[in-house]
Amino acid sequence: MEDNFNEELKAWFEFYQELGIENFYRRTPAPKSETLLPPKPHVEPKGATAPSLADQKATLETVRTPLQIPKPIMPTLKLSLFEPVAPAPARRERETLEQIREDLGDCQRCRLAKTRKTIVFGQGNPHAELVFVGEGPGADEDEQGLPFVGRAGKLLNRMIELVGMKREEVYICNIVKCRPPLNRVPEKDEIEACSPYLFRQIAAIQPRLICCLGAPAVRTLLGIKEGITKIRGQFYDFAGTQALATVHPAYILRNPREEKILREDFEKIRDFLKAPR
Ligand code: URA
Repeated sequence: MEDNFNEELKAWFEFYQELGIENFYRRTPAPKSETLLPPKPHVEPKGATAPSLADQKATLETVRTPLQIPKPIMPTLKLSLFEPVAPAPARRERETLEQIREDLGDCQRCRLAKTRKTIVFGQGNPHAELVFVGEGPGADEDEQGLPFVGRAGKLLNRMIELVGMKREEVYICNIVKCRPPLNRVPEKDEIEACSPYLFRQIAAIQPRLICCLGAPAVRTLLGIKEGITKIRGQFYDFAGTQALATVHPAYILRNPREEKILREDFEKIRDFLKAPR
């Protein structure tokens, strides 16, 4: 019986790990008599207001931001404390990018759908060791349905070649898949609607290294809010995968004298990928 339970629990862990969730901790259990009851439907007390959007977002942030997640505690498996209430998922194959794209469909989950021409899902090697995450498609990307094909993309290609790689070898995507009007920075609710697909793409690819291009990517993946020029060039952890923060190529197009900082960071990428595992 206990073996069975351990198997089920393992399947649950694997299921969540495939979604990119690596840290688990155990809530204080309810008294035993309650643990076996089905959950009661939530009924708002009369006159109560639903939690504000800000509260809901704050909750999401806490779940998503690796730096705020409490220290993981691997549970000691004790039947009496931890009764599963739903059947464990069958052990799942890792999702493919095609499945994620299909699930995204003709996405209407945020207001960017109204103004986009094309969904820019991502491009490149589905088994890439290196994944680049930018901010969001611009006009050229919106036209062509491909990420980083405009001026910033040309610079990114040059940097990729500088480290001895080809664009086809890496995977390139963005935190939002639709162009924000006038290329504005994507807003929080747009990022919240779209980033689960990004997390699933990363979980499907399982790269060795993620390169966050610019502050919005750093904030979304790493939960770091400091200025990008302060924290760039350093490696962080994204759900067990190393992630390097660097400036967005568009910043270098606006400040060409700073190109050396992008080069420096790409040299770090090259050294990281060359180093034995
Ligand atoms: N800038 C981005 O952040 N992403 C693109 O795809 C193009 C430009």
